[in-house]
Amino acid sequence: MSPTQDIDSLKRMAALASVDYIRDGHVVGLGTGSTARYVIAVLGERVRAGLAIKGVPTSEETADLARRAGIPLLSYEEDWSIDVAIDGADQVDPQLNLIKGGGGALLREKIIAAAARQLIIVVDHTKRVPVLGNSFPLPVEVIPFGWPNTARRIEALGGKTVIRQRRGRIFTTESGHYILDLHEGHIEDPAALETQLNRIPGVVENGLFVGRTDLLIVGTPRGVEVQQAARQ
Ligand code: A5P
Repeated sequence: MSPTQDIDSLKRMAALASVDYIRDGHVVGLGTGSTARYVIAVLGERVRAGLAIKGVPTSEETADLARRAGIPLLSYEEDWSIDVAIDGADQVDPQLNLIKGGGGALLREKIIAAAARQLIIVVDHTKRVPVLGNSFPLPVEVIPFGWPNTARRIEALGGKTVIRQRRGRIFTTESGHYILDLHEGHIEDPAALETQLNRIPGVVENGLFVGRTDLLIVGTPRGVEVQQAARQ
C-alpha cells in the first residue's frame, strides 16, 4: 500500500465513524475536501438504503457529489436548521481549534459550521498539531478591490501573505473573492488572530475555526480516535 492510499484509508475510516452520528430527519451540513468526499459517499449509501436526511453543501463541488450520491439538498436561500455539520480540516490543535480553507471553501464552511448545532470534524492523524500554523499557511479570504493594500494590513499583524493562484491566474472563490495565504509561523493565540484579521477592512473571513468543533474523529493506524470538545 502506498502512503497516499494509506492516508486515504484513514480518512475513510474517520468518515465512516462520523456518519453514525446522523439520524433520520437530520439536516446535515456537508463539508468540502477529500475527507468530506468520503462522508458524502457513505451518507449516499445510507440514503439509498432508506436514511431520510437533507444536506446543505459547503461548495458547488460538494453539491455536485451529493446530488450524484442521491442526497436531497436544501437551497442556499433557505433558513436552515442544521442538526450536524461534518467537515474536514487542514490542521487541528489539542483544543480542537482548526485551520481550514486549503480547498478555498472556508467562507461557506464557516457559515455552515456556525449554523449547525453540532460540528463534527473528520481527519487523518497527520492533521493533528501541537500548535496551529507553521507547516500550513492560514487562508484569509479578501475582497478583490484593493487586495494588495489589504495584504499589507494583514502582514502588519505578522507574517507574509501569498496571493493564491491556480493555473497561473489568481484563484477566485465561489463567492468571487481572493485568498491570501498567510505564512506566519506558530499561531500562539488563534482566538485573538481570528478576531484581529476579521477587523481589517477588505477581509471577508479567515480559516481559523476557534471553539467551534464539538467532536473530532481521527483515523489513525491504530484505529479511530474520538475527542469531545471540553466546554467551559
Ligand atoms: C476546504 O476549503 C477545506 O477547509 C477542507 O475542509 C480542508 O482543506 C480539508 O481537506 P482534506 O480533507 O482534503 O484534507
